Formats: sequence, C-alpha cells, structure tokens
Amino acid sequence: MEYSTKISERMWNQLDKGELEAEREKTFIDDIVQKDFIEKELLANTDDIETVFDGGAGCGRFSILLAKKGLKVTHFDISVPMLEKAKEIAAKEGVLDKITFVQGALEDLSAYKDKSFDLVMSFDAPISYTYPAQEKTISELVRIARKRIIISVSSRLGALPYASNPIQKNQFILDKDSKDGWVQWCIQNREKAISDFSFSKESIIKTYETGLFGDIEESKKSYDRGEVPWSISYHFMPDELKGILEKNGVKNIELAGPGAFARTIPNEILVKIMNDPAERRDFLDFCHIYDSNPYVCGMGKDNLFAKGEI
Ligand SMILES: C[S@@+](CC[C@H](N)C(=O)[O-])C[C@H]1O[C@@H](n2cnc3c(N)ncnc32)[C@H](O)[C@@H]1O
Repeated sequence: MEYSTKISERMWNQLDKGELEAEREKTFIDDIVQKDFIEKELLANTDDIETVFDGGAGCGRFSILLAKKGLKVTHFDISVPMLEKAKEIAAKEGVLDKITFVQGALEDLSAYKDKSFDLVMSFDAPISYTYPAQEKTISELVRIARKRIIISVSSRLGALPYASNPIQKNQFILDKDSKDGWVQWCIQNREKAISDFSFSKESIIKTYETGLFGDIEESKKSYDRGEVPWSISYHFMPDELKGILEKNGVKNIELAGPGAFARTIPNEILVKIMNDPAERRDFLDFCHIYDSNPYVCGMGKDNLFAKGEI
C-alpha cells in the first residue's frame, strides 16, 4: 500500500474526525461559501439522476442532501468515524434506507462495474489524497460514471498564496467567541504565526512546480514513528485537471473556483454580510456566479471544481 493511503487511513480514522468535520461550516465562512456552491451545483444537475457514488463522502454533507432528494446514494469513505457520523446524521434526516455506506479507499474501485452510477461525485479533495494515484483515481471515477461527474480537488494556484499567509484562516472566522478549538487556536496564535513566518522563494517555487506542499519524506518518516501526519495532498492546475478529464472522454467540462470572490473580502465585512440573512443569501448567490467564471477558477479558496458529461 502507498504511504499516502496509509497516512490518509490513519489520519482520517482519528476518533474525533467525524465530529470535527460535521461542525466546519458553522465555524468558518470559506466552508459556508464552498458548501453553498456545491449544493447549488448538485441541485441544478441531478434532475436526470437516480443513482450516485460519493467518493470520500465524509460525514455526508452532499450524500445526505441527494438522498433527501430521493436519489439512491453509495457513500464511500476510508474513515470509520466519518461513516459513523454520516450514518447518525442520515438516521436523523430519515434517509438511512436511501444510502449504502461502504468503507474503502478510492485507490481501489475494482468492486464497481463500468457505468455503475448515473452521477459520480467527490468533493473537498479526496482525489488529491490519493497521490501518487490521483490520475488513475480520476480515470476510475469516470469509468464507473454513466451520465455525469462532478468533483473538487485541491487547487495549486488557489493554495499557493496561503503558503505565504500563515493567518489565512483568520479571515474566515465567523464568530470570534466560538468554543471551536481551531478558531481559538487561530486567534491565540495569530501574532506568533506572523513572527515565525518567513517567505521562502525556493520552497514556493518547488510547490508551484510539483503540486506538493511540505516534505513528503518527512511525512513518511513521521508515519513510521507511529505519528499522525496530515494526508499528502496533490494540488492540481486547472488546465491539468481539464486535460485528465478530457483524456478519459469527459465532455462539456466546466471548471470553477469556489471561494474566489469571498477571499478578496476582509473578515469584518464578511462577518457583517453573514450576520444579515438577506445579504448572506444574496452574497452566496453572487459568489456562485463569480466563482463559476472560468477565468477565476484557479483562485478558489481551497478547491478546484469540475463537472462534465460522460
Ligand atoms: C475534507 S473531507 C470531505 C468530505 C466530503 N466529501 C465533504 O465535502 O463534506 C475528505 C474526506 O476524504 C476521505 N478520504 C481521504 N482519503 C481517502 C481515500 N484515499 N479514499 C477514500 N476516502 C478518503 C476522508 O476520510 C474524508 O472523509
């Protein structure tokens, strides 16, 4: 098994993972924007869909949404805590019978026949975590799709500015008094993060060229020491992702960058907008329009989004 799979397995199977992920979009504005963008896309692109495969489906943000629409969903993930949390939420939402939960790694989709699902989807970067098998994973996801594929992967152009901004997440804190551990960590460590930071041209150019952040060899050693390093994640360029999809026969490909508009706005203004229900709704609607413009697709907050027809 590749190190990336072993590392993902260990990291995403930490016991608190399901709980933490389920709370994310209540806590950070960039997560609200991204979730709203994907929901709008799914609701607009599933009228002709009956069966769905959600790869790396997490705690069910999107699998449960589609099950509630009456679709039959296979919810596939490497993490047991994520699957357990998703089952708990699906039961509360009354759609347990609409969803098949499967534990597995996206690196092996051999259990599924060609064109098994009308729609294949995978959001918030599970494909990127399959590095170095990310191209094969996309090809396998296309293989099992019958009508449509909709995915979001880690974005290289989108992530590079954050490599030069250790306080990037502070911009998106919705409530500074939130009890969330990550929010409080961001606030308490702000000054230290700035003083500890130094810009390294060599390292950022390496990431620009390879799509890989951090020291992969160090992550492997850390794994071997029994620690829990962050998953290795491959960051795609827009033309690269489009090319891979085209090579696998996907047509009418559209790329987008969820978060491209919101990332230009300071925290104080974002919080003000989010706290006014009408402005919030209008803002999220406009984010969807702006972020769908292909000229900004590389500058999404974390993810590069793609949809296409089989
Ligand atoms: C950031 S979460 C996104 C979850 C969900 N798609 C969403 O948008 O809410 C990434 C998910 O990918 C899963 N994952 C990571 N590596 C994976 C792999 N190799 N195969 C399957 N799932 C994986 C994790 O367990 C986690 O649930």
